[in-house]
Amino acid sequence: MPDLEAYNQLERHVLQAVEDIQSTQSESELDQLRVSLLGKKALVTHLIRSIRHLPSESRPVAGKSAAAAKSRIEQELQTKRVDLRIAARNRRLESEKVDVTLPGRECSRGGPHPLSRTMDRMLEIFSGIGFDIVVGPEIEDDYHNFEALNIPPEHPARAMQDTFYFNDQKLLRTHTSPVQIRYMENNSPPMRVVAPGRVYRCDSDITHSPMFHQLEGLVVDEHTTFADLKGVLEYFVQEFFEVDLNLRFRPSYFPFTEPSAEVDISCVFCEGSGCSVCKKSGWLEVLGCGMVHPALYQNVGIDGERFTGYAFGMGVERFTMLRYGVNDLRLFFRNDLELLRQFQW
Ligand code: DAH
Repeated sequence: MPDLEAYNQLERHVLQAVEDIQSTQSESELDQLRVSLLGKKALVTHLIRSIRHLPSESRPVAGKSAAAAKSRIEQELQTKRVDLRIAARNRRLESEKVDVTLPGRECSRGGPHPLSRTMDRMLEIFSGIGFDIVVGPEIEDDYHNFEALNIPPEHPARAMQDTFYFNDQKLLRTHTSPVQIRYMENNSPPMRVVAPGRVYRCDSDITHSPMFHQLEGLVVDEHTTFADLKGVLEYFVQEFFEVDLNLRFRPSYFPFTEPSAEVDISCVFCEGSGCSVCKKSGWLEVLGCGMVHPALYQNVGIDGERFTGYAFGMGVERFTMLRYGVNDLRLFFRNDLELLRQFQW
């Protein structure tokens, strides 16, 4: 049973407790200390509970010093808790410090691929003179890619295009011309469309890639003539290259046009005087074209007596190479950043 002396000794106990509280490093340590200082088995608790056993004249003094000890310890614990929290927060702020004066991480800017740029440019020019832009599937059937374009099964033109077949019927389109058929099947004249897209041929060397891009054009209306075709293509080429160029229409053959022509432009590098790009001829072949063959109208149910039309097809890679002076077609598909960076806006 404690006597009054034990209560008088409390001051020393409190001093020790304060010292212990001061030296704690964390809140969990502080929680443990709190249990031992103020918990059920703590000295202060024991003394408070024992007051009733003291002689009544000693109780006020003992009660006062026990209560004072308890409240001092509580206060110290509370102050220390606040200190620990502030210290923890300061440590966190220190570790998360951001130096806003450091230079930012550079984020290099991308740009459209040269082929996309060329394609956009082509479409802009054609839509500027009233052409609609349409697309067709890359996985085509034999009928739209060949048959309906007047290329029957044994036609030698099929051998010219090394086709990737899935089976007898399905293939990767070898050109954008099937879009002509699909468009004419679903629309009536007057029509004036360009169809951009990927095409595929089993071929790969410095001037051929197994996947490349074409832009197809089709105009069908009453009284459309070869002169209209010439006028549109001349306008397009002039706008595209932004220099004065001569055009030359050479008679040629395509099963889906009659008459057919291949178009040459005067060489954009030597202006026609002869260089290695034009193989000293002064001319560069850039596209195929012609008047829509009557057989096509029959296949799609358009009145070929009433309507006439023209079509053209051009290689987007070829135009890109000529416009930007790129001499190896494979560069377009290598994702070489050194090359692509030169095309940033
Ligand atoms: N489809 C032809 C090819 O891939 C290009 C072509 C030639 C398209 C003449 C046409 C055209 O529309 O009239 O070689």
